[in-house]
Amino acid sequence: MDAAAFERWLKSTMGLDASSVGPGVVERAVAGRMRATAIAGMDAYWRRLLSHPLEQQELIEAVVVPETWFFRGVEAFDALARAFAPLRGDESRTLRLLSLPCSTGEEPYTLAMALLDAGWAPQRIRIDAFDISERALSKAAHAAYGANSFRGRDLAYRERHFRALGHGRWQLSEQARGCVRFHRANVLDIDFLPAQSTYDAVFCRNLLIYFDQDTQVRTVGVLARALAEDGLLFVGAAETGLLLSLGYASAQIPMASAFRRQRSTPAALTPVPEPWRAPALAPLRAARPRPATPLARRAPAATAVAAAPNAPEASLEQARRLADNGAFQQAADICEAHLRAHGPSAEALYLTGLIHGATGEDARAEDAFRKALYLQPDHTESLMHLALLLDAKGDAAGARLMRQRASRHRGRSG
Ligand SMILES: C[S@@+](CC[C@H](N)C(=O)[O-])C[C@H]1O[C@@H](n2cnc3c(N)ncnc32)[C@H](O)[C@@H]1O
Repeated sequence: MDAAAFERWLKSTMGLDASSVGPGVVERAVAGRMRATAIAGMDAYWRRLLSHPLEQQELIEAVVVPETWFFRGVEAFDALARAFAPLRGDESRTLRLLSLPCSTGEEPYTLAMALLDAGWAPQRIRIDAFDISERALSKAAHAAYGANSFRGRDLAYRERHFRALGHGRWQLSEQARGCVRFHRANVLDIDFLPAQSTYDAVFCRNLLIYFDQDTQVRTVGVLARALAEDGLLFVGAAETGLLLSLGYASAQIPMASAFRRQRSTPAALTPVPEPWRAPALAPLRAARPRPATPLARRAPAATAVAAAPNAPEASLEQARRLADNGAFQQAADICEAHLRAHGPSAEALYLTGLIHGATGEDARAEDAFRKALYLQPDHTESLMHLALLLDAKGDAAGARLMRQRASRHRGRSG
């Protein structure tokens, strides 16, 4: 019995592609569980695992990555509020949303806050939130959060929706909590959604990157079936290439990583043109095999690139849109042209870093984030992304330093 058997078990049980969480993670998780259960040999632990459902859950808890924060990828929440604004006047209409995986609750609660702030009455917001981790769901149910859940520069929402508990912790309002129902589910259990579920929007962000290809295709198929005809499917920035390769149409909302269900193509049956690997985003995933082919070839651009316009914001906006559509090379070219034409700026360098991170060029991403920070030392997003890159390459002290800097700046701006 060796670690490979446990990796196979995790793959078939929860879809985890062990290479996506970094070398040695599964082995360390198994060793940790063996210590916790005082079991000496791998064979004995294997037998216990197969015969004890509670131990199975413990091993799952030991390998999941619950990293999340409020308004993560803020553009997606802005896009959601804008897309459904026309329905707000129809008092009979409830908005139904799905957040999977919801982890410790920040994502579904952000959906609630974004819609409440957009003027939706709480009783017309219905959010179902699922995750495989009982530990994460238990934190979500308590809805009390510390500094790590509040990142980014604009924390005005915290004043509106939270009350301070002291010791740096904040309790979410009953109003926002009341919009969300949490459920435990493994997305691999095909029946986890009731057959009649139909959602106006599905948020499935930062899950597919941990899956092998079959599981990615299956998961997207299940979620697409739960989506209303005109619904929107939001994925993580590093997952847009997969959706494009499956034939989904980008909703063309800059940086929102939003897709529409293509009516002509039954999603679950669409063949994947060639093995799709999530671009190594960096942040959360330690070293994983890099794709052998350039991303641009696997995730063709939906939009042709025009010459970069003169206005700095216009060209960065275009680069964002291309990156959102998976056209990373073109997006990087525009950023480079922008930097040449307008000189260095923190925003352009930050976007360059994101693009390099999404294509697995971690060293170039790190370089770009450092340059952004040289120009603007309080650029919190660059600090956080740099911290995640440093974590991924094992520089825990460097990562801690960046997080401390980010939280100092957040403290000042919050
Ligand atoms: C990185 S978090 C993403 C949270 C949130 N969507 C976000 O983007 O901030 C990944 C979550 O996926 C959950 N997860 C992993 N495998 C799963 C599965 N097979 N079914 C349901 N949830 C799963 C983990 O428990 C973890 O909480």
